[in-house]
Amino acid sequence: MSIDLEKILRPVDSPMPLYPPKYMTLASGETMVVRQVGREEIPQILPHVEPLIHVERDFYNIVAARVYAELLGYYCHRVQDEYVLVAQVNGELAAVVNGRMVSKDVGMSYHTLALKRGERIGAHAFAAKMEYHMDILGQKEVLIVAESPIGFRRWMIEYKLEKRFEIPHELGGPPSWALTRELFDAARDTLLVGRRPVPEAALAKAKAGILPPIDPPTPAADFLAATRSQYDSTGTALLPPGKTAQKPKRSE
Ligand SMILES: CC(C)(COP(=O)(O)OP(=O)(O)OC[C@H]1O[C@@H](n2cnc3c(N)ncnc32)[C@H](O)[C@@H]1OP(=O)(O)O)[C@@H](O)C(=O)NCCC(=O)NCCS
Repeated sequence: MSIDLEKILRPVDSPMPLYPPKYMTLASGETMVVRQVGREEIPQILPHVEPLIHVERDFYNIVAARVYAELLGYYCHRVQDEYVLVAQVNGELAAVVNGRMVSKDVGMSYHTLALKRGERIGAHAFAAKMEYHMDILGQKEVLIVAESPIGFRRWMIEYKLEKRFEIPHELGGPPSWALTRELFDAARDTLLVGRRPVPEAALAKAKAGILPPIDPPTPAADFLAATRSQYDSTGTALLPPGKTAQKPKRSE
């Protein structure tokens, strides 16, 4: 009985070609491998996404909460036609990107989460998923939204995305933007990085296990300090909870 119900709850995925792994050299000189992961590897990723739910800075909290749900949805077969790519440096998790195939021609970009900052790792991982939609799935356009100002700079501005405001995006329903094939081809030489095939040793290291990120974003000492400081010119937002700032003295 329960097995039959599971058949109804579980969407049947469409056949999707796999993303061929690639590698690149980062500005630091380190090698980063980008590869697709299957359901069996999701439990290795979740523990590194979960702590970011508590990082308010740069909107890691909302993005991590959604990524966690999307990865779980993929793992438990509760989402249609999703894929997940990871970026690894020495086996360590550096970025996670995901999305799904809406139709033969249209892709839905879900999220990009960088766990190692300051080397455009998120930008490279996003480019890889656009490559998956355009070159591997052969789609005509990808629907995208940004949930953070950095995301907006990286996607909308760098790729010069087109508005598709009449289409609500699956991530909460805000107006969509689109990467078309023309825009992707225009960005190909500057934004899309990487070589194939990945040297055997580097690929084997990446596949051997997803290691914890070495320097992931961490929460501020004072929860929600970032939000409060947006409206706070006195710096008191950074005081520990329960402490009140001295009122500035009025000079008469
Ligand atoms: C958006 C995101 C994927 C971009 O990743 P990225 O390309 O690797 O870029 P980073 O976030 O490391 O850096 C972005 C900028 O902040 C600066 N920066 C912020 N924190 C930094 C840190 N700890 N170390 C170094 N640089 C930092 C960088 O110098 C960079 O400046 P630039 O835009 O002038 O190059 C990443 O910021 C992220 O995961 N953010 C949280 C989730 C999110 O917003 N995802 C996108 C949803 S639309």
